Amino acid sequence: MKNKTVCVVGLGYIGLPTAALLASAGYEVVGVDVSEHAVNTINQGKIHIVEPDLDAVVQATVAAGRLRACTSPHAADVYMICVPTPFHEGTEIPQPNVEYVMAATRSVAGLLKRGDLVILESTSPVGTTLEMREMLAGQGVDVSSIHIAYCPERVLPGKIMTELVGNDRVVGGVTQADTRVAADFYRTFVKGQVLETDAKTAELCKLAENSFRDVNIAIANELSIICDEQGIDVWKLISLANHHPRVNILQPGAGVGGHCIAVDPWFIVAKSPASARLIRAAREVNNHKTEWAVNKISETMTAATQRLGRPARLACLGLAFKPDIDDLRESPSLQIARAIKASGRQVVAVEPNIEAHDEFDIVSLENALASADVIAVLVKHKQFCDLHAIKRLLSAGAIDFCGALTRGKNRRPASTSQLAAAPYLEP
Ligand SMILES: NC(=O)c1ccc[n+]([C@@H]2O[C@H](COP(=O)([O-])OP(=O)(O)OC[C@H]3O[C@@H](n4cnc5c(N)ncnc54)[C@H](O)[C@@H]3O)[C@@H](O)[C@H]2O)c1
Repeated sequence: MKNKTVCVVGLGYIGLPTAALLASAGYEVVGVDVSEHAVNTINQGKIHIVEPDLDAVVQATVAAGRLRACTSPHAADVYMICVPTPFHEGTEIPQPNVEYVMAATRSVAGLLKRGDLVILESTSPVGTTLEMREMLAGQGVDVSSIHIAYCPERVLPGKIMTELVGNDRVVGGVTQADTRVAADFYRTFVKGQVLETDAKTAELCKLAENSFRDVNIAIANELSIICDEQGIDVWKLISLANHHPRVNILQPGAGVGGHCIAVDPWFIVAKSPASARLIRAAREVNNHKTEWAVNKISETMTAATQRLGRPARLACLGLAFKPDIDDLRESPSLQIARAIKASGRQVVAVEPNIEAHDEFDIVSLENALASADVIAVLVKHKQFCDLHAIKRLLSAGAIDFCGALTRGKNRRPASTSQLAAAPYLEP
């Protein structure tokens, strides 16, 4: 198997680590991206995204000639599609946008030969793999002579290089033979279990996993609003409730963001609008938490403006969608900062993981503490959680939307149950 060439289409957070891993596992890998910046950076042995341990693997595999990047697809034996799958906005129920998947698949159609394997890794609505197959057939490809499968990615940004190898994988082919061929391919570089199913089940499996997370976070977010109304500290409440041996409430935050949990449940709702009632409600609760945070900050700023006799200034601590990453996609913190700025107020941001932002002045924590009248802690970045920062933020009266300032008080005892292994899953 390993004397084969793999063409990875889409070299972002999923495609580039996958391409680098395959190259280090002995495959000849050609990565393809429409972004010239990404391609040029990778061909210099460097990376254009932030992901621990990725740079060394890219540098080594490019230097060894096992990984190279191009702006158009290259003939290979295995094609992996790792392009974005956002949703179309503007409708009551956001609709999945599989146009990137179809464009990427179309771009390799002319290269496919008998025995090739095409794998879709992008998170996709149920039926997309079959749709890809029909599209390829429409392009004149003899789809009965190739293998087509779906294999969703479950990695956690920040731990991608270890999870790509260690996680169990679900592989679903269009036919049983497709499943077997694709699963055998994954077994050459994955140490976790490779579980075989059909394409539709694999597609829904990924969506179900992220909907499960979204629903569980929604309970925490809803409780945080209820607690605020009733003068109860939600962090203490959750800590106490989690001492029940079969309870594991997650942590509330400023909403739910990112390109996965905030997006994928809509793919289920769009397909089954009448049946996906809880999944839809969870999306709405988590989106509402962000609007609630905007109102909370606005009220605090109005009071501060009246007290000071001049417009109050806000510092948003964190713009990323979760702690310790530079990814701002679908970020509730960014939405909050934007909404407050759009209401005519002065807003700066402290975001240790980015250097600059088009819309906001990025300042240091020291600068924010010295110049802002209202401080909203929106993301639990490690820089806001050390004891020195917590002390200063508490004395500045910072509003804490993510539990950064209650560090240590909301931990669950390690022995409580098996769930304690991953007790504080962040959105
Ligand atoms: N990032 C994650 O943590 C994560 C986890 C699980 C699943 N996923 C899923 O994986 C898929 C990819 O996500 P990502 O985070 O890597 O996205 P990304 O935006 O980081 O990367 C996608 C890349 O694809 C490129 N691209 C777009 N159209 C192309 C085309 N036609 N040909 C070649 N390149 C093209 C883009 O330029 C970009 O570099 C999505 O479906 C996402 O939902 C992501």
